[in-house]
Amino acid sequence: MLGEVLMGDSQRVAGPDEKGWEPASWQRFDAAQQATYPDLEQLGLALDELGELPPLVTSWEVLQLRKEIGEAQRGERFLLQGGDCAESFAECTAPVITNRLKVLLQMSLILVHGLQMPVVRVGRFAGQYAKPRSSDTETRDGVTLPSYRGDIVNAPEFTAEARMPDPQRLIRAYSCSAQTMNFTRALVDGGFADLHHPEYWDLGWLEHSPLSEEFHRLAESIGRAVRFMETISGKQAGSLRRVDFFTSHEALHLHYEQALTRRVPRQDGFFNLATHFPWIGMRTASVGNAHVEYMRGIRNPIGLKVGPTAEPQDLLDLIEVLNPRREEGRLVLIHRMGAERIEDRLPPLIRAVRDSGSPVLWISDPMHGNTESTAGGIKTRRFRNIMKEMELAFEVHRDNDSLLGGVHLELTGENVTECTGGARDLLDTDLGRAYKSRVDPRLNYEQALELAMLIVRKHGQVRDGSRAEGTPT
Ligand code: PEP
Ligand code: CO
Repeated sequence: MLGEVLMGDSQRVAGPDEKGWEPASWQRFDAAQQATYPDLEQLGLALDELGELPPLVTSWEVLQLRKEIGEAQRGERFLLQGGDCAESFAECTAPVITNRLKVLLQMSLILVHGLQMPVVRVGRFAGQYAKPRSSDTETRDGVTLPSYRGDIVNAPEFTAEARMPDPQRLIRAYSCSAQTMNFTRALVDGGFADLHHPEYWDLGWLEHSPLSEEFHRLAESIGRAVRFMETISGKQAGSLRRVDFFTSHEALHLHYEQALTRRVPRQDGFFNLATHFPWIGMRTASVGNAHVEYMRGIRNPIGLKVGPTAEPQDLLDLIEVLNPRREEGRLVLIHRMGAERIEDRLPPLIRAVRDSGSPVLWISDPMHGNTESTAGGIKTRRFRNIMKEMELAFEVHRDNDSLLGGVHLELTGENVTECTGGARDLLDTDLGRAYKSRVDPRLNYEQALELAMLIVRKHGQVRDGSRAEGTPT
């Protein structure tokens, strides 16, 4: 009954496709990490409303991203994916959106010039509102309540009211996503991407970096390259003024994703039009579960998080289900092993995928395998571990005749103190100063730019065949 309510008329008429898939077919499988709504009728009404709202992205943008991911698979592009661990409704504001876009665009400029190849820019925002949790409930002082599952489900405050899943939040998540998307598009179209003017760059941290001189040279060469392009073209460098920007989020809340899964004229199949690039989180990535069932049927490029417990055969089975026709630009494998385990866990996976002949884009998430707690119980990540995993990722791919084609980062344009280390060498004692994340600790503006420069450095070393000279910070 619920399935019928939630399926929506157009989708029921369409029926399953030749693969036995339809937008609601995931409902026949085990769905982990879903909210338990107290009132299913209210949920059905909210989903019906969502199902009538216009898409947030278009199918041609989605197909363009697939094409660019295909190019990245061939080593012709580098993918930069970054943004918040979890967006919040309260931070759907102009300064937060602008600063996050600024740091991503500046990082991409560093990468374009440093790597000498085009960059695919993917924000981890405009829909990143659902979070997987280690437990369904949380207990404090003998009181047990549902866990906070992201703003799309409930609120973080520890009260029974705040933690009650509320279907109206689905509509709010859609509208915050639309507002974020709208503002981002306007900024990018309006020339905000034209960031080569020195006044836009906050490079004070460069002085504190052990690689200060090298990074100064890189920053200057970017400036020179931009001026050169302007001189020869006689106008502002077009590609810097107006850039393509894509969005992504973890496709965790399957009712929400289903409601925005649509057919479009003159295209086969269904698209998830809530985002360009949905991904499957590590906790929901197994064959036979609802998330994999949902994702196999949409035409978007999709990401798959690959953690340190993944076994080669399980990964091959997932690839077979998610990309049976071995299409280019379809599948991005986002490995997140941890600096300590990557050398041990990643090579067999790379070799198995390589031998299977199925095309994938490998990118590194050096954040999620390196989360730890300080002595005072604060969740943090050490910049040196993030750095180390990223450097090792380049080396492990090189040593296994594979290619690292991008990075996936949690970052913010704000001056937070959530990860320690970096050029300014933030300490555990600094974490209390500006710790805003409600979920995972993010790189701040300076740490994010530093990481982009370190990626350029490492990419060059691997390309030139020299070994790492050690992690500098
Ligand atoms: C995340 O990207 O925020 C996340 C929860 O990652 P993972 O699924 O890799 O743990
Ligand atoms: Co996270």
